[in-house]
Amino acid sequence: LAPSVPKLAQPAGTPLVHSSLPCYRKSRSCSHLASASSTAPGSTTMKPQPLLTNFIQSKEEYDALYARSIADPASFWGDVAEQFHWEKKWDPDHHSFNFDVTKGPINVEWFKGGFTNICYNALDRHVMTGHGNQHCMLFEGNEPGSDGAMTYTQVLDEVCRLANWMKAQGIGKGDCVAIYMPMVMQLPIAMLACARIGAVHSVVFGGFSADALAGRMEDCKARVLLTCNGGMRATKKIELKQIADQAIEMCASRGHTVDSVLVFANHKDGVAGAEAAGTPFTQGRDAWWQPTLAEFPALCDVAWVPAEHPLFLLYTSGSTGKPKGVLHTTGGYMVYAATTTKHAFQLQPGDVFWCTADCGWITGHSYLAYGPLLNRAVSVVFEGVPTHPTPARSWEIIDKYQVKQFYTAPTALRSLMRSGDEWLSSTSRQSLQVLGTVGEPINPEAWHWFHDLVGNGRCPVVDTWWQTETGGHMILPLPRAWPAKPGSATLPFFGVEPVILDDKGVELQGECEGLLMMRRPWPSTLRSVYGDHKRYEENYFGPYPGYYFTGDGARRDKDGYYWITGRVDDVINVSGHRIGTAEVESAIAAHHDCAEAAVAGYEHPVKGQGIYAFVVLKEGVVPNDQLKKEMWTNVRTTIGAFAAPDVIHWAPGLPKTRSGKIMRRVLRKIAGGQENELGDTSTLADPSIVRQLIETRN
Ligand code: WTA
Repeated sequence: LAPSVPKLAQPAGTPLVHSSLPCYRKSRSCSHLASASSTAPGSTTMKPQPLLTNFIQSKEEYDALYARSIADPASFWGDVAEQFHWEKKWDPDHHSFNFDVTKGPINVEWFKGGFTNICYNALDRHVMTGHGNQHCMLFEGNEPGSDGAMTYTQVLDEVCRLANWMKAQGIGKGDCVAIYMPMVMQLPIAMLACARIGAVHSVVFGGFSADALAGRMEDCKARVLLTCNGGMRATKKIELKQIADQAIEMCASRGHTVDSVLVFANHKDGVAGAEAAGTPFTQGRDAWWQPTLAEFPALCDVAWVPAEHPLFLLYTSGSTGKPKGVLHTTGGYMVYAATTTKHAFQLQPGDVFWCTADCGWITGHSYLAYGPLLNRAVSVVFEGVPTHPTPARSWEIIDKYQVKQFYTAPTALRSLMRSGDEWLSSTSRQSLQVLGTVGEPINPEAWHWFHDLVGNGRCPVVDTWWQTETGGHMILPLPRAWPAKPGSATLPFFGVEPVILDDKGVELQGECEGLLMMRRPWPSTLRSVYGDHKRYEENYFGPYPGYYFTGDGARRDKDGYYWITGRVDDVINVSGHRIGTAEVESAIAAHHDCAEAAVAGYEHPVKGQGIYAFVVLKEGVVPNDQLKKEMWTNVRTTIGAFAAPDVIHWAPGLPKTRSGKIMRRVLRKIAGGQENELGDTSTLADPSIVRQLIETRN
């Protein structure tokens, strides 16, 4: 085992897996190697020198490499991709794209002609090279003392068993599998098992409601669901299986059948295994994970898939309509997620890396599951919350596992900061080398607290700007390569070419502020919106032809550093969770007493943004607290508790233009208490509504 990692007890409820390296695996591995070199077209010529194997030391080194990545992206990323196993190499002209809707369909291709498998690269490759006994994941449960660990060999075994079970359910290449689990090691295992057989995973965050889960399973036609009896977050029980059952019923009532459900028995109230009391169970459809997988072999062939084979869908909120299934594919995502992980965090094989994100979001996909494992790191999986049982929990975990890189969200830092510095004092955090943040701009106060106190002033803070759609980091300070400025994500990663446009679509130069766009694709660009390529084209490439539209605004300073100013569309960022105003509005408007609802974000000291709902009631309905509660519950049941409004304002009406469009700018100002900055309201159909709204504010 890796020397820096303490040996941990197997948690109750995790399956027993053997830890020695069986000899059949060695022979199987060798045959893979042989077939790899014999099928690679370039195998008789000299192998190109892999690129980006060492960390970037200086701005000069970055400048030279960045220039190359923009001048010749195909050769640049081809050389980076040499570090991975490809069953068949990509074609010399592997990269093509069109970002201009006026010139035909939007498309992006990387590593065309190549065949690979991301699960093989994340697991088999390391086991084959003698690292099977190194820890792959460390598990920290909700309660201190409930913990566990799995080696790369153990993870590979369980992935294979699960992959074989899925095959037995008829799942194959291109089939979608839904995953609805808490943060246990079996969640990344489920993702890897899908990837192993070429199935497409769709992870649904465990905080989503039955309604939201049902909508996502229907959209991607998932016939198989991988879930869990439940989980604990602080003192709250999450009954995942009950919610999953409701979702499956909803699907059935609308004509979509989920045939097979595999239920991981998570330790619950100290009761282990399948006895997990009271879990609803449907014979014939449901099976318990542990005893079922024990019956399946721990060897499973890898499905070699083309580089552009779909890897996963992840639903995310936009400004309109229902959430979009963002589609990522295999080769480009693999290369980009692994390379950004390595360089953003100066990650070396064997390092204990802790990303606090849930696998239900893109950060968990790229920087808890795939990125760290592709780099043979040890990834920490934490089921609980940073304030349970005390606000010292994160720091205790860092000391316990000797975490080297710690990656979290500004909202978590702000909430810990408020609890007081004394919670840091019983821990040393000496193992830390790099700190990272993601999800929203980090305010300088939180940045300094993170840097000066948590990192004892020793560790660079890497503020990473990116999106579900981008698959990996886009703008970030590479540690120790150039100076940070608190609150700025600084400079683009290799191959990323940001452009700032004014609202007429004119490119701005030098110091400027405007809309943040991308001129060209990077390897993990989203390839489509699942089942709706038109929506993909309209949403991301329609607004300004020739560019990918991020939905964010940004400022560029005199040093060329980027400062993200926040969303310019109707997306709210609450504690780093992306929430579409339209989704919240339709959940509130579904209440029979609601005539109309409009939602805006406002500045919140801990969450970044809070949700402020303006609700117009139907004629004759008298506002009361019970109604508020019902509308609030509507949002919880249609989306999830994290999207429930902080404020419900009984509004006499909404500010609309003569053409009937809601003037959202005005709502945002009223929600934020900035009524002196309303701007021009003369085009409103009824300008007096603004005064009435200000007067009725709670
Ligand atoms: C915001 C999360 C400022 C931004 C990875 C973006 C940020 C949205 C940062 C994507 C950051 C993310 N600084 N803003 N470092 N990181 N954002 O899809 O508005 O959940 O468009 O992906 O979060 O959120 P998503």
